[in-house]
Amino acid sequence: MFSVSRRNLCVSTLSQKRFAHDLIIRQRTGKPIIKYGAGGRSSVSGHIATVFGCTGFLGRYIVSKLARQGTQVVVPYRDEDSKRHLKVCGDLGQVVPLEFDLRNEKNIEEAVRHSDIVYNLIGRDHETRNFSFEKVHVEGAAKIARISRELGVSRFVHVSALNADKNSPSKFYRTKALGEEAVRKEFPGATIVRPSAIYGQEDRFLTRYASTKYEYILNGGRSKVRPVHVFDVALALERMFKDESTTGETYELYGPREYTFEQVLDLIDELIDNRRLRFNIPKPIALAVTKAFYLPFLLTISPEDIERLFISDKITLGAKTFEDLGIRPLSLEMNSLGVLRRFRTPKAYDQPLGYSRPIEKNKVEKKREIYTEY
Ligand SMILES: NC(=O)c1ccc[n+]([C@@H]2O[C@H](COP(=O)([O-])OP(=O)(O)OC[C@H]3O[C@@H](n4cnc5c(N)ncnc54)[C@H](OP(=O)(O)O)[C@@H]3O)[C@@H](O)[C@H]2O)c1
Repeated sequence: MFSVSRRNLCVSTLSQKRFAHDLIIRQRTGKPIIKYGAGGRSSVSGHIATVFGCTGFLGRYIVSKLARQGTQVVVPYRDEDSKRHLKVCGDLGQVVPLEFDLRNEKNIEEAVRHSDIVYNLIGRDHETRNFSFEKVHVEGAAKIARISRELGVSRFVHVSALNADKNSPSKFYRTKALGEEAVRKEFPGATIVRPSAIYGQEDRFLTRYASTKYEYILNGGRSKVRPVHVFDVALALERMFKDESTTGETYELYGPREYTFEQVLDLIDELIDNRRLRFNIPKPIALAVTKAFYLPFLLTISPEDIERLFISDKITLGAKTFEDLGIRPLSLEMNSLGVLRRFRTPKAYDQPLGYSRPIEKNKVEKKREIYTEY
């Protein structure tokens, strides 16, 4: 009994001590950030972060990473239900939801007013009636960057996309490039992050290709991609949080290997133990069909998706990447089974990576076996 209370006493005395590394001075504003506690979910890192786009796929990983180290995270949301899972990422009161509208400057001011770092993860794969790509990727991003600068936020991290290019045939990539420019103009010290296709639980990459009965490929499956795991991108964003040397830099975040789409589909088929029929669709037909049947609210594939599937990932030589953040990215082969296992047949569900299975006999062979037995 005595030893337990003595240990508790030691822990509490230790957590009261402060060291030089508990004090961070923000480069741009000179704001001091003071840490309390031993670190972890129930301590106080002294930081307040705002994560726009927190309700999306990547958002929940970065909110979780920040909140579990005692950072107060402001999570602006649009739909009441979309932010519920974020509340439990941090200790009581550490995750602060705020309803917002990207067109309402007052809402954005409220969300960034107390923060010393703002992440902008807002992006959309398709246009909607209310929000065009320009409104989301350019005007929205510029507005958040400007308000953050005006209210004295020290750091701004903007998530764009690999292949962002003003001359791209894809409107998504063109507006992403214009968005980067607009953010840099409004917030010169912004850190720009360009991830490749991100995979992980509930992604729109592996899940989309694994869930169809037949496989439809474009460009003969020759377009190249460098998929990156969501854990790696979230870890990179977390490193940028405290590392002031990332200020004003652009990071391209892509996986360790390049694959053609055909290779990605082969890998998916292998892992889900299902060789599906594969059809190559010519571009004009794919565009015509998606234009005719595209329904944004059903999240069917859009003409813009088709355009993007013809573009191979292009990396900028000399650009900063995971290596500069001290991260070794995970490989697709070793880390996609966790995402894909649910698409396996019940027989193969529990099998580990690289299991060998007997070749299934067809019906005729099975009947022949029965007759020869009797
Ligand atoms: N996932 C990838 O493979 C990938 C690859 C390269 C780059 N990126 C970029 O990385 C960022 C995060 O990606 P993600 O996969 O997490 O995207 P996501 O799942 O589609 O989430 C997008 C987020 O943006 C918010 N948003 C979209 N339009 C909005 C609007 N008009 N007003 C307010 N909020 C809006 C969404 O809010 P609601 O929940 O309210 O809709 C959601 O929180 C995006 O900028 C994306 O373009 C993603």
